Amino acid sequence: MADFSAIHSVEDLRRLAARRLPKPVFDFIDGGAEDEVAVRFNRAAFERVRFRPRTVVDVTKRSLEVDLFGKRTAAPIAIAPMGSLSSFAPNAEIAMARACAAAGVPYGLSTAAAVSIDRLRETVPEARLWFQLYVFNDERVNRAMVERAQRAGYEALLVTTDTHMPPKRERDRRNGFSLTVKKTPANIAHVLSKPRWVWEVYLKQGLPRMEIIEAEVPEVRDHIAGVQYFQGNRRASFDYGHIRELRRIWKGPLLIKGVMRPDEAEQALAAGADGIIMSNHGGRNLDHAAAPFEMLPEVADAVGKRMTILIDSGFRRGTDVAKAIALGANGVLFGRPAAFAVAAGGEAGVGHFLGLMKDELDRVLGYLGCNSPDELGRDHLLIDRLPPGHNAPSL
Ligand SMILES: Cc1cc2nc3c(=O)[nH]c(=O)nc-3n(C[C@H](O)[C@H](O)[C@H](O)COP(=O)(O)O)c2cc1C
Repeated sequence: MADFSAIHSVEDLRRLAARRLPKPVFDFIDGGAEDEVAVRFNRAAFERVRFRPRTVVDVTKRSLEVDLFGKRTAAPIAIAPMGSLSSFAPNAEIAMARACAAAGVPYGLSTAAAVSIDRLRETVPEARLWFQLYVFNDERVNRAMVERAQRAGYEALLVTTDTHMPPKRERDRRNGFSLTVKKTPANIAHVLSKPRWVWEVYLKQGLPRMEIIEAEVPEVRDHIAGVQYFQGNRRASFDYGHIRELRRIWKGPLLIKGVMRPDEAEQALAAGADGIIMSNHGGRNLDHAAAPFEMLPEVADAVGKRMTILIDSGFRRGTDVAKAIALGANGVLFGRPAAFAVAAGGEAGVGHFLGLMKDELDRVLGYLGCNSPDELGRDHLLIDRLPPGHNAPSL
């Protein structure tokens, strides 16, 4: 059993992941688009909001539980869908789903995962699973994946709409990381310096295949073909008509991931979506995209009473989660922190990470004078205003 006694924060997990992973693989997780301004601003946005604690309150009855899609959930958090996870640690999706099940929170399986929809369901029957759909040009493939997830009992469908163009992530380009890690002298040295990764991921497990795509596209039969299909067939013409079409097929909660504007949230609602996941993909696609957190007040004001609002991008602390809930989010998704955790310590690493987030959130609740996340509100926040005349949205 790994020893996490020296791991107190997401930053500690990130450092440990950096020690375990070859540099191009670590950079793929850690990096963002172009100058990585959006990555940095996702974090900086939280510093414009501070707490107004209420201290003369009995907080002995604290619970982190919330209602999400009509089910009690251990805390208002979940793990975001991420592709390529099994390049970071062996069978990483299964490790994530198990750790989430143990923590009582949902896990989002990506279209680009290395485990099929059915195999994950069968391997971790106790998990609360969401399926994330990347929309491909071939309507038959989209429909087959969604129907499979429905049959396998996945709870929610998350349709990602913010990745329809190939991103420009310069760390990956410099590292020669695209279909696989390019065999340059520097990369060979990076890989050989991490023998544990070479053994566990590359030799023992083998490079991950895109099992979800393989299940629906007969010509995809190996790692390279999977990545090629994934990169070459994504649809750039997705519209509200497609959301209406998915609404007809999918019976459970339907969420649109990547929506950050009140007008798009309204339209998603009108097309039949039950919710949105406010996200800029962790700053990995459009550099200088606004932080979802700074867009949250205006979106919550517009649609918060009528649809579920989940949010991600830059969340690293219990305080971040508390601020988003106070501003009207129903829950928060974590991307990179969970990827670092699985690279650092597999299932135990993810369990440790979720434990850290719960512990921090519990502490914030207590300090703010709350017994439940449902008691958090804007009254608990002090929000910086930009100077008059500065054309910035509503934070
Ligand atoms: C390595 C990695 C792979 C990702 N793959 C996907 C994916 O397959 N589908 C998707 O909708 N989002 C994907 N994302 C975005 C995450 O779901 C999430 O929106 C983002 O990571 C949140 O920001 P954070 O990393 O700052 O927490 C990925 C993110 C990372 C870091």
